[in-house]
Amino acid sequence: MKDVYILAIESSCDETSMAIVKNGKEVISLSIATQIKTHENYGGVVPEIASRMHTEAITLVLEDTLKKANMKIEEVDAIAVTYAPGLTGSLIVGIEAAKTLSLIYNKPLIAVNHLIGHIYANNIEDNMEFPLLALIVSGGHTELLIMESDYKFKKLGETLDDAIGEAYDKVARVIGLKYPGGPNVEKYALEGKHSYNLPKPVMDDTYNFSYSGLKSAIINLVHNAEQKGEEINKYDLARSFQDVAIDELVRKVEKAFLETGIKRLVVAGGVSANKYLKEEMDKLCQKYDAKLMIPRLLYCTDNAAMIGAAAYPLYLKQEFIDYKINASSHVDIC
Ligand code: KG4
Ligand code: ZN
Repeated sequence: MKDVYILAIESSCDETSMAIVKNGKEVISLSIATQIKTHENYGGVVPEIASRMHTEAITLVLEDTLKKANMKIEEVDAIAVTYAPGLTGSLIVGIEAAKTLSLIYNKPLIAVNHLIGHIYANNIEDNMEFPLLALIVSGGHTELLIMESDYKFKKLGETLDDAIGEAYDKVARVIGLKYPGGPNVEKYALEGKHSYNLPKPVMDDTYNFSYSGLKSAIINLVHNAEQKGEEINKYDLARSFQDVAIDELVRKVEKAFLETGIKRLVVAGGVSANKYLKEEMDKLCQKYDAKLMIPRLLYCTDNAAMIGAAAYPLYLKQEFIDYKINASSHVDIC
């Protein structure tokens, strides 16, 4: 069969990224322009600034991607773009670039869900075999799904309030660590002890998650200490939070191993970059003799290679879209 080259575009949050991916697996080139340094000054992503910066970066990122691949747009078979979920103004920049390239170069257009992209990041350097359990842990989502085959999902549970990444970011802010909070909380947690008694996220027996109670408990704890003029041990608090937050993921995945009998787990989304999460999932998977897949760091956080990987099965099914496609801030996988 002829090789398929997809030019993929990702601009859903604060990274402008493009990649050329061959047959959904081989990353020919990848370019990422991150806005972290700018948003760091505000303690979080400012949507208006994010879309403006995507506009400034996108042609440079395209040029860089083509140059690294030593390819011309004429040589690719399709253009893929993240259309949802994410920040609307940011998504629009990528979508408009994709539509324009598709129109000018007469290439089919493929719309990719960002979260499905995170899942397919696991297919770049390994092979996903079905059925599998997919745990999505990002800044906006916490979901546990059964993936029966390419693009066939069944949701087991999701967060009822805050996503785990969001909780990491808020905890970071309240203890005075920079955005993005996840990696910084992880660094502090490494040096701390579990000395704070925090509430467990959810006591019920469903697959749903809840992180707002844990987050609020930490905010209250810090504010109370401030009022009393007491010192908070930031390292211990980061560690106590991380233990509780990740242990809840482990508990839900264990329940799914037992109840579904599925012995494959893929972890997807920015929080999958967390080493403690990886170690705990590793232990759990060893206990149940299950296969664990977590992408390498570069493919854990937002990048266009994962969009190219996720676009490939759609290309094979010729699931192309027309120019009516628009950005959606919230779209469910299933
Ligand atoms: O998937 P992602 O890059 O963007 C979204 O699609 O949301 O995820 C970003 C989230 C942020 O909340 C960030 O703090 C978190 O992933 N994150 C981490 C780590 N690296 C990124 N959380 C915990 N530990 C990390 N090492
Ligand atoms: Zn993401």
